[in-house]
Amino acid sequence: MSASPLAGKRVVLGVTGGIAAYKAIEILRRLVDAGAHVVPIMTDAAQHFVGATTLSALASEPVQTKLWNNPTTAIPHTKVGQGADLIIVAPATAKSIAAYRMGYSHDLLQNTLIATRAPVVLCPAMHTEMWEHPSVVDNVATLRKRGVQIVEPEYGRLAGGDTGAGRLADPATILDIAERVVGPADLTGVRVVVSAGGTREPIDAVRVIANRSSGKQGYAVATEAVARGAEVTLVSTVGLPTPAGVQVIAVESAAEMQEAMERAAINHDVIVMAAAVADFRPVHAASGKIKKGDGVPEIVLQQTPDILAGIGARKRNDHVLVGFAAETANLVDNAKEKLERKRLDLIVANDVSASGVGFAHDTNAVTLLRPDAKPVEIDLATKREVARAIINAVVDIRNAR
Ligand code: CTP
Repeated sequence: MSASPLAGKRVVLGVTGGIAAYKAIEILRRLVDAGAHVVPIMTDAAQHFVGATTLSALASEPVQTKLWNNPTTAIPHTKVGQGADLIIVAPATAKSIAAYRMGYSHDLLQNTLIATRAPVVLCPAMHTEMWEHPSVVDNVATLRKRGVQIVEPEYGRLAGGDTGAGRLADPATILDIAERVVGPADLTGVRVVVSAGGTREPIDAVRVIANRSSGKQGYAVATEAVARGAEVTLVSTVGLPTPAGVQVIAVESAAEMQEAMERAAINHDVIVMAAAVADFRPVHAASGKIKKGDGVPEIVLQQTPDILAGIGARKRNDHVLVGFAAETANLVDNAKEKLERKRLDLIVANDVSASGVGFAHDTNAVTLLRPDAKPVEIDLATKREVARAIINAVVDIRNAR
């Protein structure tokens, strides 16, 4: 299993006083799940919104709140920041952002922020009027220029029933960005295109031939590639949340996916075909709705072009071409045959009949096959962990050239 780059890292999670402080609990839990050693710091205001006991119970050590008479160390203003590998402030209020910009070290969190050499991920959350105020805009721009990673707030429902920009970014996005900040940037400048989801082939104006692919594995590969510094395009048939920093091209049918992937192959270095492309489509799609009264229709199918094999046939020497093999029997032999026939550098074989594996699940178990290397088995792991193993193999293939 490939561990998160956060595993074993000492992460300070600063929580300031906004309503979104309750979401810090979810961020904390995800950091601990990723294997990080989490040291939470709460400001006085944050404790009006969530209890220190809750965070202490979930964290790797008790919450730190005190600049004076701190029970853990005599010099908390520098100790916590010096020992950190990463600091995340979520939520970051307008006041805490202003203080950080000025180096106004009035509490433990602000002292920690200016005493650290670790990267800082700042996740603002506030009302739209405050987020758009020139002082906040200016403070955020200055911090960004200094190298602070700003996780932009989202548009959505805010405290008091208002709606607008300012809602704390999704915890999953914050984790992705944290991993990106501490993880290896071994795909910097590399262009990666990933296809994801099952195609839908029209029968008539309302009906399609579809398949069970959720697109989750393709999205995980895109998320991992962008975390490693790649420029990523996702050619997708599904409406999953767009991973931060990824450009999405929405398609539906095999024909649309073929056009998008063939065009992308021209200016991308790594091509990952994770989509479940329909192998057959109706020869004619009725323009209107086929009515029951007209009897049971006979739908004549034709084979779709094999997109991956087509790209493989025209593959450049510097391309890395990755395919998937969804199998229900003879996993390795069938996958090997596809690896050779489609001229792939890597094939990700999964037995879609096994439990907890493949379509719609959040977990997967795969075998990675390369033309000249021993098969690598990845036992049941999250799709993100599988994605990490796939990207590790891609980096390996590029480095070996
Ligand atoms: N693929 C493709 N175009 C198709 C069918 C498949 O690009 N028309 C790609 C898939 O995205 C995947 C790989 O080829 O990366 C293997 O797909 P899979 O469905 O496992 O195999 P097929 O080649 O379709 O063969 P079969 O269905 O007979 O197993």
